[in-house]
Amino acid sequence: MSDTHITRPLFDQVMVPNYAPLEMIPVRGEGSRVWDQEDNEYIDLTGGIAVNALGHAHPELITALTEQAQKLWHVSNIYTNEPALRLAQKLVDNTFAEKVFFANSGAEANEAALKLARRVAFDKFGIQKTEIIAFYQGFHGRTFFTVTAGGQSTYSDGFGPKPADITHLEYNDLSELEKVISDKTCAVILEPLQGEGGVLPITPEFAQGVRALCDKHNALMIFDEVQTGMGRTGELFAYMGLNVTPDIVTSAKALGAGFPIAAMLTKTCFAEHLKVGTHGTTFGGNPLACAVAGKAFDLINTQEMMSGVKHKEQLIRQHLEAINDEFSVFKEIRGAGLLLGAVLNEQYKDQAKTFFLESAQQGLLILVAGANVLRFAPALNISDDLIEQAMLKLKQAVKNIVNKDT
Ligand SMILES: Cc1ncc(COP(=O)(O)O)c(C=O)c1O
Repeated sequence: MSDTHITRPLFDQVMVPNYAPLEMIPVRGEGSRVWDQEDNEYIDLTGGIAVNALGHAHPELITALTEQAQKLWHVSNIYTNEPALRLAQKLVDNTFAEKVFFANSGAEANEAALKLARRVAFDKFGIQKTEIIAFYQGFHGRTFFTVTAGGQSTYSDGFGPKPADITHLEYNDLSELEKVISDKTCAVILEPLQGEGGVLPITPEFAQGVRALCDKHNALMIFDEVQTGMGRTGELFAYMGLNVTPDIVTSAKALGAGFPIAAMLTKTCFAEHLKVGTHGTTFGGNPLACAVAGKAFDLINTQEMMSGVKHKEQLIRQHLEAINDEFSVFKEIRGAGLLLGAVLNEQYKDQAKTFFLESAQQGLLILVAGANVLRFAPALNISDDLIEQAMLKLKQAVKNIVNKDT
């Protein structure tokens, strides 16, 4: 088949229809710019949904990947490998964690976290302690365990009997959690900022309250930092800005800056419950993934990068406020660092997709989080100049929609 057949309609012919991709097919990227098959240029404020933390085709990541590609691609977990050990050492040196388990996706890291919490409870307290508390609008992945822990039952309905003993509560409502949590609870899983659920930040009081209640009931506190981790909020991990230390943190997305890899971070006293043979994955700790992630880690984990994220957050917020002053479309701008959400007001309720499509028409790639929130998750190293250009395009998109409306 020649390349002329590689077009969007082919997706509908040969791919499982669980996604609905845009008409344009991106073919190359550089920094925070992307080009499609027709060589149209777009500014990318999606970062591959908070993945491409260093933009596209970062030269140092290309070097890390290609150097490793000439040495060793895969060995299986019958052996360990140097890139995996180097990366684990960096994660241990720079976080609360003492032990690391590598996986391939956010869902798998969370699956490991939930299984670990159940196993710790089983070993230490017996068969009764299995309850997992999670939160509405939370998102933890699409394996059956993690999607059931996620806070939207429509995602887990229709696949037969669900993993049992998962309770959902209101996010940021400490008194509700206080009423429900008990000695039968083995873990509380939550995001430090609900990404997919609408870019909804946690309150520090809630985070600290969850910690205290977990301690009281011998439950593990699992922070799902798949979307917020690796510098996204202006901290290496978001927990660092909340004055809490979870028992387990999961990371994926930006960990490999575009190369698939995930990690579950925890302390030795919990990790030791996953004895040889209790859990595993063929590709976890793959040398190529770990080599790229190791380089990405060094590039992201700097003071300049973290303060840059906070500066760019302010820049984007100022522009969004200015757009709103002119066109009155947003009810609220929220989020942290470079994970920002613009919540549409009553007049434009549930029209996020319209703004997403019109932005693409203007050469701007943005995200939505649900039907009502525009989400921005650009590369952490996007330039101020490109942010300015992106915001001009967004302003034009908003103007077109508002004008159509009047
Ligand atoms: C907070 C959070 N957890 C877990 C996941 C699932 O990650 P993956 O799609 O890599 O399995 C996501 C993906 O969006 C996420 O945002």
